[in-house]
Amino acid sequence: MVVTTENPLRKGMRQQRTPEPATMVIMGATGDLTHRKLMPSLYNLAVNHLLPHGFTVVGFSRSEKAHEDFRADMRQAVDQYSRLAPVDPKVWDSFAEGLFFEQADFADLSSYQQLGKLLQKIDEERGTHGNRVFYLATPPTVFGQIADMLGKAGLVTPNASGEHWTRIVIEKPFGRDLQSAEQLNKELLSVFKEDQVYRIDHYLGKETVQNILVFRFANGLFEPIWNRNYVDNVQITAAEELGIDRRGGYYETAGALRDMVQSHMMQLLTLTAMDPPVALDAHAVRDEKVKVLRAVKPLTGEQFGERVVRGQYGPGWVGGKQVEGYRQEANVAPDSTTETFVALKLEVDNWRWAGTPFYLRTGKRLPKRETEISVTFKRAPLALFQHLDPDAMTPNVLAMRIQPNEGMSLKIVAKVPGQGYDLQPVYMDFLYGSSFGTQSPDAYERLLLDVLLGDSTLFTRADEVEASWAIITPILEAWQHMSPPNFPNYAAGTWGPKAGTELIQRDGRTWRDQ
Ligand code: BG6
Repeated sequence: MVVTTENPLRKGMRQQRTPEPATMVIMGATGDLTHRKLMPSLYNLAVNHLLPHGFTVVGFSRSEKAHEDFRADMRQAVDQYSRLAPVDPKVWDSFAEGLFFEQADFADLSSYQQLGKLLQKIDEERGTHGNRVFYLATPPTVFGQIADMLGKAGLVTPNASGEHWTRIVIEKPFGRDLQSAEQLNKELLSVFKEDQVYRIDHYLGKETVQNILVFRFANGLFEPIWNRNYVDNVQITAAEELGIDRRGGYYETAGALRDMVQSHMMQLLTLTAMDPPVALDAHAVRDEKVKVLRAVKPLTGEQFGERVVRGQYGPGWVGGKQVEGYRQEANVAPDSTTETFVALKLEVDNWRWAGTPFYLRTGKRLPKRETEISVTFKRAPLALFQHLDPDAMTPNVLAMRIQPNEGMSLKIVAKVPGQGYDLQPVYMDFLYGSSFGTQSPDAYERLLLDVLLGDSTLFTRADEVEASWAIITPILEAWQHMSPPNFPNYAAGTWGPKAGTELIQRDGRTWRDQ
C-alpha cells in the first residue's frame, strides 16, 4: 500500500508552542541518563529552536566540577549520542553558555540553599523568571529525600502563584511495589501538587506510541470493531536482543516484571484498550488509562502459575554472536533467580473487552528487537472458501510496530491470480520512514519539551502508577511463595522458555512470531 502524506504545515496540525524561559536542574547530572539522553535531547531541541530564550541547565551532583568542566563533559556526551550530528558549533556555543554546575550533598539542606542562590543569580542574569524544573536522574532511593529538601529550602513555588512555576520530573523506577509507590507519591505530594509532578515513562515519548491514540481516534474505521465482538485477542510483545548490558546491579533488584511490564507494557496496554477520552488533555487521557488498569482482572490462586511465566536466559547465540548467560553477567549472582523474561495473560474485565485475552511478553536476549502490538480479529463468519483450503482463511491481524521498522500492517486474505479460488494472506503496510521521510525525535526530546510546556498528558499520574502496581504486586508476592523455575530456562537468542509458548497454545493460539 502506498501511503501519501499531505503537507504537514497545513492547518489543523499541532501548533508548536515555545516554552517560557526556565532553568532545568538535573540532579544526578554526571550519570548515564544525562549523557545518553537528557543532554543530547536538550541540544537537539536547541537545534530545532524549540528551547526558550535564556534556557539554562544546572547540573547538581555529588562530584566537584567547575562550570567549564561540566560543559566539556556535556559536549562529549552530545558528540557521542546526539541524534543530530555533527554538532553545530554555533548552536552548541550558545547552548553551552547556559550550562552550570553546583556540587550537591543530597542529604544536606545547605546544599539546596546554595543551589537556590545560584538559581536566583541565573534568574537575574538570564531572565529565567524563577521558572524551574527539577529533574531527578538519581537513584530512586533519594527521590523522596530530594523532594523534601527542595521544599524545606523554599525552592518549590505552588503553580497557583501564577507568576512562576516549579515542576519535578521523576525517572523510573517509581517504587518497587504498590506500597513503595504509594509511599513515594505521598512524599512527593506533600511538597508538590500533582500537576507539578511529571513521572516519566519514556515509551510515551515514542512517536509510534503516541500514534496509537491518533490511529484509534482520528480514524473512523477501526473504533467500531475495536472490542470483544470483533477482536479475538491482543498480543503485546517487547522483545530485546540486548542483555542487561552493564546494569547487572540494578537489574538484580528489578527483573523483567518490574523493569518492563509495570511501566512500558502497561502503558501500551492502556493505550490499546482505553475508551476514547473526552479531550486530548492530561486529565481526560489519564482518566481513561486508569480505568483500563482498574478493569484488569486480578489473578488469583492457581492463575499465578498458569497465566504468568518467568524465564531467565542462559548462554546462547544472538545476532551471530555467542553471548553469556544472565548468571555470568557482571554484578549478577551466580545463582540469581531474577527473571529476564515474562509472559502473561491478562483480561480487561469491562464492557468493551470482557472475554478477549491480552497476552503480554517481554524478554532480554530474544532473537530480535521488536516491540509490537498485534490485534487479531475474529475469523470471517461464513467459511465460503474452506473446502478449498481449510487454513487459507487466516484471521485479519493489525500489527502496530512500535520499533524498529516503525509502522503498521494489516493482514488480509486475497485471491491468488489464476483460475479458481486460491487464497493467500497479503499485507497492507504503512512505514513511517517511507511515508513521512523525516526522522522522528527521540522520546526524551518530546518529553522534555512537554515538561517545559507544562503538558503532562504523556506522563504517568499518581493513581495510574498505583493502579499499575496493583496488578503487578500480587504477582511479585505470589512468586515469593512459589519455587522459581529451573533457571536458566531459555537459551539466549530463542523466544523464551517453552512455558511461554504453551501459555498461549493452551488457548489454541500462537504468538505472532512463532
Ligand atoms: C528501560 C528498561 O526502561 O527500557 C531497560 O530499564 C530496557 O531494561 C529499555 O532495555 C527499553 O527501552 P527501548 O526504548 O530501547 O525499547
